[in-house]
Amino acid sequence: MSLLPKRNAVNSRSTASSAKSNQDKKVQLDNFTVGATSTLTSNQGIQIADNHNSLRAGENGPTLLEDFILREKITHFGHERIPERVVNARGCGAHGYFKPYKSMVQYTSAAFLQDPEIETPVFVRFSSSLGSLGSADTVRDVRGFAVKFYTQEGNYDLVGNNIPVFYIQDAIKFPDLVHALKPEPHHEMPQASSAHDTFWDFASLVPEITHMLMWTMSDRSLPRSFRMMEGFGVHTFRFINSQGDAFFVKFHWKPKLGVHALDWDEAQKIAGKDPDFLRRDLWESIEMGNYPEWELGVQIVDVGREEELGFDILDATKLLPESQIPVQIIGKMVLNRNVENFFSETEQVAFHPGNLVPGIDFSNDPLLQGRLFSYTDSQLTRLGGPNFHEIPINRSICPVHNFQRAGLNRQTINKGRVAYEPNTLANGLEFRLDGTSQGFQSHPNPIAASKIRRRNSSFNDHFSQATLFWNSQSIAEKDHIAAAFRFELSKVEAADIRQRMVDNLAHVDLKLALKVASSLGINAPDPKAAAGRLGFHDYRVSTKVIEDSALSMMVRGGNNIKTRRLAILVADGVDAPPVRRLIQDMTAAGAVCKLVSWQLGTVNTQGGKQLVVDHTFANMPSVMFDAVLVPGGDESVTALCGLGEAVHFVLEAYKHCKTICALNEGTRLLATLGFNLHPEKNSDLVYVPTAGILLADAQKVLDGQVTQDFIAAMAHHRHWDRLNAIAVPA
Ligand code: HEM
Repeated sequence: MSLLPKRNAVNSRSTASSAKSNQDKKVQLDNFTVGATSTLTSNQGIQIADNHNSLRAGENGPTLLEDFILREKITHFGHERIPERVVNARGCGAHGYFKPYKSMVQYTSAAFLQDPEIETPVFVRFSSSLGSLGSADTVRDVRGFAVKFYTQEGNYDLVGNNIPVFYIQDAIKFPDLVHALKPEPHHEMPQASSAHDTFWDFASLVPEITHMLMWTMSDRSLPRSFRMMEGFGVHTFRFINSQGDAFFVKFHWKPKLGVHALDWDEAQKIAGKDPDFLRRDLWESIEMGNYPEWELGVQIVDVGREEELGFDILDATKLLPESQIPVQIIGKMVLNRNVENFFSETEQVAFHPGNLVPGIDFSNDPLLQGRLFSYTDSQLTRLGGPNFHEIPINRSICPVHNFQRAGLNRQTINKGRVAYEPNTLANGLEFRLDGTSQGFQSHPNPIAASKIRRRNSSFNDHFSQATLFWNSQSIAEKDHIAAAFRFELSKVEAADIRQRMVDNLAHVDLKLALKVASSLGINAPDPKAAAGRLGFHDYRVSTKVIEDSALSMMVRGGNNIKTRRLAILVADGVDAPPVRRLIQDMTAAGAVCKLVSWQLGTVNTQGGKQLVVDHTFANMPSVMFDAVLVPGGDESVTALCGLGEAVHFVLEAYKHCKTICALNEGTRLLATLGFNLHPEKNSDLVYVPTAGILLADAQKVLDGQVTQDFIAAMAHHRHWDRLNAIAVPA
């Protein structure tokens, strides 16, 4: 099959205007996609007869330079790598579509937000920001959430993160921030981790970072799945309607599966057991037909009313509290197709916050303004010249026409001698563009200002929203934040950096700062010392919101178990009927149930039948699951109790506060935890000795009396109030 697009099929007006569906991009990509063939050819199409032997001067002689087949193959191989992204190198992507729920005509003329009948194809890339291409998925980091909408008016990119604020306020600090975060330049360590001196040195000297630190030290930076994290455009953008009215807008993606995180201990273990955990989760969910979904939300502020917010809407270290400006849900995105080829699609995709469509414009956020320059500039190197918009994944589905020509890797063959405007020679008529009402219009906001290299004092409040975030967390979330600060700062060798950092934290919350400082071998936090430093502004706006439940993940959890993974621990002699019943019930509720044992193959059931084992304790440990079921069966449970891997499995699940359900003899495996977990006789249905531990009679399972409790416990995701979880050594 030809690698070239079929004539008139790509970028043709008929393709662009015909469809009210999301198939346009797929059709376009199909034109570039090839499958396996039965012949082997060179890149010139010459059939190759022997792919095992190079051309040599005799059987034992040297290889001949004239072997163009060998040379071509080796040369291509030697050039198979391109530079990784300078940040957000590690990522994975998927295709899907976006559909508005209602017309947004009141606020924006963007065509893809007008008609609930129109599906717009999208490509999404999720990423971590710190690590290199091969780094582990589950490191503590902000995640990128970049969406390319292939609209009928051109490509629109919403290049966001899973955290609604950013580290810095002005783009000129971005290289410093990234240099401080990345591995230290002398020995290139540590990989994909902020837990080292250079980052905290920078952080302790740049107090505007404090709000973002609260988020990155929270469980938000350990997503359980890309499918279970929120996305945010971060900056304030503008909607422009067809009358030219402008509105400030912040974008949100709300996952239908709720927002969930890993436990820090679990995240570190997964980094070793399955460094691809998050990309595998996305890939497998889509392959299984469990298409991840997010709703698009917007917070809209009338231009002119931003002063009432109490902080500067152009400051990317601030969020708009949802309790102050509610999020309107305006549409849905579904990811329903994996890529055909990671390099061609995920690696070569080029996002850019400056890819806008009519009806959406930037704001003067000084961080966003710098990004507008940075992405294309970086992609010129990464993707080898100015024509990367022609790479299939980057092509728009609507017609592209301009007078740009030539350049490295040019694909399009532009006919004729006219490569300028205005002209009359192209088709005999005068072609001239002198500003029309068609197409993209920059919003004409008036500017009367002097050139100045100075930040507005309205950006000086570095702490009130950090405190707002802290106030809004549950007890467990607060504990996790304090523990994360302690861990990260314990890795910092310079004691004065640790001290500076906790002095700063005292301006967020003194109790937090004391808790962090107590284990770091430094003095008690001193807010006055922080306040004396350069760059520190002892300034707080009189904030209207001091607590906002929307900032806690606990209220974003959702209440279902769709796609959650349940491990069922089995060995020979397992009591199978309750297992079958629970698999049936839990699967119907959307869970993914897997039988785990010490080896693959089958186990014999108590009733003389067989069950097929899906995974082993070693290849799919408890950190890969959301909940555990230990069925009864004397022989099975005796075997599991004698097996370190099985004991460790439940210990670890207990430590990570996951739901565990044990039936009849299965409670003996839980007794290895050392807690008194014996079911009370005469308990009516399910006995719950501590949060999320369910002990039940197998007969009750068969009577259908256990399922709802099990589902409810699992939908709770984590039982942070569980007894003694911290004492478990796993
Ligand atoms: C001035 C600040 C920033 C600069 C200069 C900057 C620059 C860059 C650059 C050069 C890349 C690599 C682009 C490529 O090679 O394709 C990148 C990737 C990325 N940046 Fe930024 N960035 C900044 C701030 C942000 C912020 C605030 C966000 C979130 C709102 C963000 C989100 C992303 C994402 C999601 C990617 C990965 C895109 C992908 O998946 O390909 N960046 N950034």
